[in-house]
Amino acid sequence: MQRAKLTSQVLLATAILYACLSPAACVYEAKILAFLQEFRMRMCHPIPNLGLPALDPLQLGPAETELNNKYLVDFTGSIDNFQLHGLSDFDVPALSLSPVPGLKNTINVTLPLTYFKSLYTAKGSLAYILNLAGDGNAETSITNFSILISFRLRSVSPLAISSLQIELRLGGLWINFDNLMEEDRINDFIHALVNEMGVELLGDVWDYEQGTVVSKVQAAVNNFLGQYSLSDIIQIIIGGDGEGESAPIFDGVEPDCKPDATTTPQD
Ligand SMILES: *[C@@H]1O[C@H](CO)[C@@H](O)[C@H](O)[C@H]1NC(C)=O
Ligand SMILES: *[C@@H]1O[C@H](CO)[C@@H](O)[C@H](O)[C@H]1NC(C)=O
Repeated sequence: MQRAKLTSQVLLATAILYACLSPAACVYEAKILAFLQEFRMRMCHPIPNLGLPALDPLQLGPAETELNNKYLVDFTGSIDNFQLHGLSDFDVPALSLSPVPGLKNTINVTLPLTYFKSLYTAKGSLAYILNLAGDGNAETSITNFSILISFRLRSVSPLAISSLQIELRLGGLWINFDNLMEEDRINDFIHALVNEMGVELLGDVWDYEQGTVVSKVQAAVNNFLGQYSLSDIIQIIIGGDGEGESAPIFDGVEPDCKPDATTTPQD
């Protein structure tokens, strides 16, 4: 959660940088895409200057969580050896940023294939009816995930965004959680349900929860932006004034994460 937030912060900081440059000097989309390419090439390493762990694969755990009686769920769970793959295959099919406060900025990021594998446990009950007996491997893969973010700049100083909108789209979802439900038949049913209908189900959940999530994200982003001055953010993204040079933010981190993709950025 924290890490996903950091990633979106980087994207937003990138966007804000563009948005705050003078219109005359505003042919910066290429520069931002170049920055993202530099970032992509390093996502298999931690990037200390951004406070980021290695993001592809992203490894988590061991970790435990507990959820009592929230939404009728009584739950204790844990993960270990969690590995998420595919974040660095992101593509940015749309990037349209307006330097004028009040105009709409749009970013579309797509992920062709992301998947995770983990050891997990999930014990508890759903609505006191279904018993969870989860223990073993958990795997999930998501194809053609895309997120469309649009926002407006409220003003230039202090930096803040408004009218944040987030649209999600999912091509396919597949899950396999060993022994998730105590009863085999229910276990098979749940897997079949998610694997047949997951895309629609998630779409409904997103439609239902979107309002709260979006306002929380907007508050978090503005909180983040509030700590920085515009020149800090320009410094973070562009660093020195060198054309085509990688920003100092990447100092000491080798761009060697995509040995097959060095000549074809959008494979
Ligand atoms: C993002 O762009 C891709 C490619 O143009 C498109 O297929 C996808 O639907 C867009 N995502 C959203 C959420 O609009
Ligand atoms: C994902 O997108 C690609 C290209 O847009 C398409 O060929 C493929 O069928 C899609 N896969 C799924 C599972 O939606």
